[in-house]
Amino acid sequence: MQIRKLQEHIGAEITGVDLRQPLDAKTRQAIYDAVVDNVALVIRDQKFAPEDFLKAARLFGEPMAQHHTEFALPGQPLVNEISNQHKDKKTGKRINHGEAWHTDHPNHEIPPKFTILYGVSVPSRGGDTEVMNTRAGYALLPAELKARIRNMKTANVYQGSATRHRFAYAGSAQDERQPDPVLQPLVRTNADNDTQALYFSVTKCENIVGMSPEATQDLLEDLLARMLKHPELIYQHKWRKGDMLIWDNRSAMHQGVIDCPPEDVRLVHRIIIEGEKPH
Ligand SMILES: [Fe+2]
Repeated sequence: MQIRKLQEHIGAEITGVDLRQPLDAKTRQAIYDAVVDNVALVIRDQKFAPEDFLKAARLFGEPMAQHHTEFALPGQPLVNEISNQHKDKKTGKRINHGEAWHTDHPNHEIPPKFTILYGVSVPSRGGDTEVMNTRAGYALLPAELKARIRNMKTANVYQGSATRHRFAYAGSAQDERQPDPVLQPLVRTNADNDTQALYFSVTKCENIVGMSPEATQDLLEDLLARMLKHPELIYQHKWRKGDMLIWDNRSAMHQGVIDCPPEDVRLVHRIIIEGEKPH
């Protein structure tokens, strides 16, 4: 097995391992550390049936239930399908999964620490997944801004009322909206390495405690813009069939780039891994 760093600030690649085979403890630890250290990790050339994917995902922790149960694979409730061919049953419109920078499920008390995708069908071009290192993004902020936001708490719901990135699709999760917003730290500590990172989702944050939803969006959009000035913080994953892509939600934000030809099938399977309560 070879581990290779892809970029200075984010991304590593593993080749020469078949995760359907048993691995020794040292190899398992090296794979786990590669994702925590590099924020995003791709493991190439896997050949997974859904049950193999689930087994391989357990390398990173315990898989947990996802928002959109209607996209779970038959007989595999913990594995969701993300496809550019999905249509909203109500409107007939194509669903753009994962559009806009976000973190997964911050409106859960214990959101997933890792998100894992497996490339089943790859389009001829486009459809990349982007992951940004928000640990490095936080480190780049001016000291006084860091001090101002350090103890802020976000209040998270399924969809914030003031977000400027409105998702057209709510699906089954619409019926599961939580009446009480879930509070999360805006600056999150990664329990594996004790580093701090910006942790928020512009679409799911209703407000920062003590601020209006509109002022909150202004602040979050400003923080996002500051990080996006540094393209070196972003790993843009170009899919190959058989890729297993993992990122550490405690130190990252991500988005899907919805630009592949609509007639091409872009299909990935997704598993999310339970983490610690954010602090
Ligand atoms: Fe996502």
